[in-house]
Amino acid sequence: MRTQVGIIGAGPAGLMLAQLLHLQGIDSIIIERKPREDIEGTVKAGVLEQFTVDLLNEIGVGDRMMREGHFHDGIELQFSGKRHRIDLRGLTGGQRITVYPQHEVIIDLVNARFNTGRDIIFNVSEVSLHDVDTKEPKIRFKQNGETHEIQCDFIAGCDGFHGPSRLAIPDSIRKEHLHLYAHGWLGILTDAKQANPELIYSNHDRGFALLSTRTSTLQRHYISVDYHDDIANWSDDRIWSELHARTAMDGWTLPDGPINSKNIVQMRSYVLETMNYGRLFIAGDAAHTVPPTGAKGLNLAASDIKILATGLAEFYKSGSEDILDRYAEIALRRIWKAERFSYWMTSMLHRNPNHDSFERNIQLTELDYVCTSVAGSKTLAENYVGLPIQWEN
Ligand code: FAD
Ligand code: DHB
Repeated sequence: MRTQVGIIGAGPAGLMLAQLLHLQGIDSIIIERKPREDIEGTVKAGVLEQFTVDLLNEIGVGDRMMREGHFHDGIELQFSGKRHRIDLRGLTGGQRITVYPQHEVIIDLVNARFNTGRDIIFNVSEVSLHDVDTKEPKIRFKQNGETHEIQCDFIAGCDGFHGPSRLAIPDSIRKEHLHLYAHGWLGILTDAKQANPELIYSNHDRGFALLSTRTSTLQRHYISVDYHDDIANWSDDRIWSELHARTAMDGWTLPDGPINSKNIVQMRSYVLETMNYGRLFIAGDAAHTVPPTGAKGLNLAASDIKILATGLAEFYKSGSEDILDRYAEIALRRIWKAERFSYWMTSMLHRNPNHDSFERNIQLTELDYVCTSVAGSKTLAENYVGLPIQWEN
């Protein structure tokens, strides 16, 4: 088979890219390792920046999000037995965040893809990339035991942190940075009433907790745990007891209920600086991951894709490779700022077992400063709602 852009991975990055390219009249083929039910059913992110919401609307997949999503004008930070509101909207000149689950975004994007009459090839295996440093790169894969080859002009590696794409960049030129955290996040979905009109991020002596939401009857909450811990050690009672303890406030009770799903994810910061090599462009979690505390992963995938699609559109329209040549440089400026913010939020909100009492007090004082200084609150707010792409130096 032949196409203009071969896309590996039908996560938010790959699917958004396909839709943006389609709107520019550029053909693509998407291959995906998992079956459709899996990508449409995996519970991940929840917070969309205004940039991502605007992009989904621009590509015509925002209708359900605008009807069913929840728009939040602020978040709350809890520490030392008190809650403090960060007025995102007031501090950023009217920007806010939208809580709409990632798997619903995926459902909308998959439907949009099929409505264009183009396909997604699911259940592929043994994916390999060839001739990426030539003008005729190729992707080979197996489906139902048969080997296939896609010949294309460009390959977009949108295959997440564990995908094969970035390994097609020779070790000798692949520049990357990895930072691991001792914490993991244990996330649950529960049939319970909404805890609070806005998200609550809590730094408690027992550890971090985050109260989020999905609908008025379905909630998404997280607690920090040791990453090596086994989910089997966490009975529903034990999870609720930690959530209650870490978010307790006088005169307020966290609504609980049956837990429908629970899992533990590792927290890591990773940046691939070599985001393109020849005709291969890497985007989304394949090129960078952030700890979830800043709610940035999916939003960074969206901005990478906006830059890449703009570069590809320019190439097919005029033959110019100006934006493609600067893809990594433009994307990395926003990525590093989101990495910094996610690292900062993680350090400020999680208990560090190695901290002495002095460092613990510095951490709590930083929270106090952020919540009581306009400059401090504004720094948090403008990063949380999302920074703009800087196209020029
Ligand atoms: P992925 O979603 O990982 O998609 C990659 C796709 O490639 C997958 O479908 C995978 O099956 C496929 N693939 C892999 N290997 C191959 C192969 N060999 N061949 C073909 N296909 C392949 N982000 C936010 O912005 N806001 C949040 O609130 C937020 N909260 C989060 C909470 C949690 C608990 C977690 C775990 C993540 C959160 N994130 C959040 C991060 C967000 O979920 C990710 O950043 C996002 O999924 C990245 O999208 P992607 O398309 O780059 O990669
Ligand atoms: C959610 C996830 C996050 O990582 C975050 O910082 C806030 C909310 C969520 O899944 O709702």
